[in-house]
Amino acid sequence: MPTENFIYNYDLLITENFSRKDILPLLQKTYESVFKNTDSETQSVIDIINNLDIDAILNYAKTIRKKCSAFVVFGIGGSSLGTNVIFHALKQHNYNELSRVERSAPKFYVEDNVDPEKITALLNILNLKRTIFCIVSKSGDTIETLAQFFAILEKIKSATGKSWAEHFVIITGNNDGFLNKFARENSIKTFEIPEKLGGRYSVLSAVGLLPSAILGVDIRAMLEGAREMLENAKNTDFTHNAPLISAVLNYKHYLNGKNIAVLLSYANALGRFGDWYCQLWAESLGKRNLNDNTRVGQTPVTAIGTSVQHSQFQLYLDGPSDKVITVLGVENFRNDLEYYNENLNEKVSFEHLIKTERDASIQVLYKNNIPCEFITLSKMNENNLGKLFVFYLFKTIFSGALLGVNPYGQPAVESVKQTIKRIYKDENKLIFSNSIKI
Ligand code: PA5
Repeated sequence: MPTENFIYNYDLLITENFSRKDILPLLQKTYESVFKNTDSETQSVIDIINNLDIDAILNYAKTIRKKCSAFVVFGIGGSSLGTNVIFHALKQHNYNELSRVERSAPKFYVEDNVDPEKITALLNILNLKRTIFCIVSKSGDTIETLAQFFAILEKIKSATGKSWAEHFVIITGNNDGFLNKFARENSIKTFEIPEKLGGRYSVLSAVGLLPSAILGVDIRAMLEGAREMLENAKNTDFTHNAPLISAVLNYKHYLNGKNIAVLLSYANALGRFGDWYCQLWAESLGKRNLNDNTRVGQTPVTAIGTSVQHSQFQLYLDGPSDKVITVLGVENFRNDLEYYNENLNEKVSFEHLIKTERDASIQVLYKNNIPCEFITLSKMNENNLGKLFVFYLFKTIFSGALLGVNPYGQPAVESVKQTIKRIYKDENKLIFSNSIKI
């Protein structure tokens, strides 16, 4: 009997308008369009989950964990969001403030922007002689990640002398990008991102697993959970295939005007998971339909319960009827705290309170006719996180088939990259004339 479980419930996604007659053929058609002639990008996701050789990752992590006092990841989008999920979901809150003995691993930072104040603040507190920088970029050419890398390169060289290359590990594609060439020319330790593996689908490759191993996360257990969910995604008993059901019912609601897909997590540890989901959902599905060129996609929103009940919930309940909500909860929290409620004259615990509020919210959402699905993790751990990642990876891939888009690539974002290059050279700047200076 597995002790970990991931429970998916879709009762409140089913409405009278959805007949079994409608849904079953759509489940079958969607399944076949993904698994009949599986495209190379989807196959690459499957291969990573099934066949990734993690020994090299574990061996490198073992030596580095002891040697350094801080491990810093530079990357953006799919090259950093997944790592942040793992860090925040599996390591305790305020991890960097613990002592070395309590952490039993280096301090850990993920830097995914070129905000000069943020990067300066980090450089001010690092002991460069005892820091390893992990540069993650599949293309090896991303302007933001390279800026971070160049900002640190000379500083590391002058702080560490001849051994400077040992202070870097590069995770990149085996391609013509700058990072791959630089790593080879300077004998820097590298890990490869497979050519066909999309950035936002890469969390279970070295991209997410190397930093995880440095943190001491059990990456075998995470991959085991991932494989269990992959088996479920391949289940031809469609009414037991969680990501498929979720994608198809969500799509039916989308056709009924639910243009916003909210992920409402009742656990702070899952806050970064919401950011990862937003990127995956938006960048994969917000596209032109391949047949008729119409614009399709749902806007993802991420929220944390109970906090959201005191901010956006009013809008969810009484505002436009344009949302479908996934409530994500944890059954057994890793820590709990009891208190005596003098107001009610009873002893309660935080876990009881957060779960009660979660269930109350579900009831109110139901009463207000808001379509909802629920995911409950028995516990926040490696196995369940692996399942959760793959649930969303395949829900997204199935949704791409339903919406008639290619869930890989990001053609519109590429045009921003080109524009940055032009404006950088001072060409094509926009001139605004209606500004108010106060
Ligand atoms: O999902 C994607 O492919 C993107 O979000 C990329 O991850 C992001 O643009 C970073 O690209 P790279 O890894 O090439 O630096």
